[in-house]
Amino acid sequence: MQQLPKAELHLHIEGTLEPELAFALAARNGVELPYADTEALRKAYLFSDLQSFLDLYYGLMAVLRTEEDFEELTDAYLARAAAQGVRHAEIFFDPQAHSARGVPIATVVEGISRALERSEQRHGISTQLIMCFLRDESADSAIRTLEAAKPHLHRIAAVGLDSAEAGHPPSKFREVYAAAGALGLRKVAHAGEEGPAAYVREALDILGVERIDHGLRSMEDPELVEQLVRDQVPLTLCPLSNVRLRAVDTLEEHPLPQMMAAGLLCTVNSDDPAYFGGYAGDTFRAVHEALGLGHEELRTLARNSFLAAFLDHDEERRARYLAEVDAYEFESDPDLG
Ligand code: ADE
Ligand code: ZN
Repeated sequence: MQQLPKAELHLHIEGTLEPELAFALAARNGVELPYADTEALRKAYLFSDLQSFLDLYYGLMAVLRTEEDFEELTDAYLARAAAQGVRHAEIFFDPQAHSARGVPIATVVEGISRALERSEQRHGISTQLIMCFLRDESADSAIRTLEAAKPHLHRIAAVGLDSAEAGHPPSKFREVYAAAGALGLRKVAHAGEEGPAAYVREALDILGVERIDHGLRSMEDPELVEQLVRDQVPLTLCPLSNVRLRAVDTLEEHPLPQMMAAGLLCTVNSDDPAYFGGYAGDTFRAVHEALGLGHEELRTLARNSFLAAFLDHDEERRARYLAEVDAYEFESDPDLG
């Protein structure tokens, strides 16, 4: 059955590290993991909040050491994404999480790029790369990271902001975002995942971002919602992540339907699919089943993903993807990928 074509706009490449690959890389690189086997590792995926996830997540990154590791990780993600109808992917990476362990940004970018260069031919997926700053590190560290990225800017489309949100407002990164903009990079930021709606405002008004990653808590501020609707600012929501990190109690209670009804430009994404129970197509299926979104709402989410994608350099391609979404025929039990 044909699959609903979609773009994935909120995906951390380090969050696609499946336990099997983690153990294979650990053996190859002589890294000892504090888990007996893949089953023991999976059992540890019981998170109480964002920080409890980040602690495990940064720890497991110890297995990623060489260009080949990053290439293999990225290629494995692209294969899974292609099998679930992803036609375009904008992929985050966290250079500071690797440079802190002695793995230079060149290793990370070159490794990921090797897989991205072959992506269209091998997987039928066009791609963009987004470099994120860790918001619980200093503003100076972010500036040094941007400096270190300068030889690789031809491979990087945008900057983002991720990691522990509470207590680390977007305004902390005003300077580095201004510098990134001056270098021609586009701008996104995680905001309103655990942090307040005020952080979404700061990301828009102080950092000048074009998209908000998550934006879940925007609904707490009606004036902000009005602004987001008026400017049609895309939100890259991650419903499965929100459940696993306890931002919402259950998927059935996720505000996605209310957000769509309010006129927000919503997309759904998998965030860290190896940890949160599903890739892009799984996410579409989950919101269909748990939230009762009908076929036309699913089509809207797929259209939105391409409308919000950084495809301005190739509007023909965007139009082609949108036409594919419009032509998609749902069956009674839709294959959402
Ligand atoms: N890094 C990886 N996943 C993240 C998330 N959901 N929020 C913030 N930082 C992250
Ligand atoms: Zn994220």
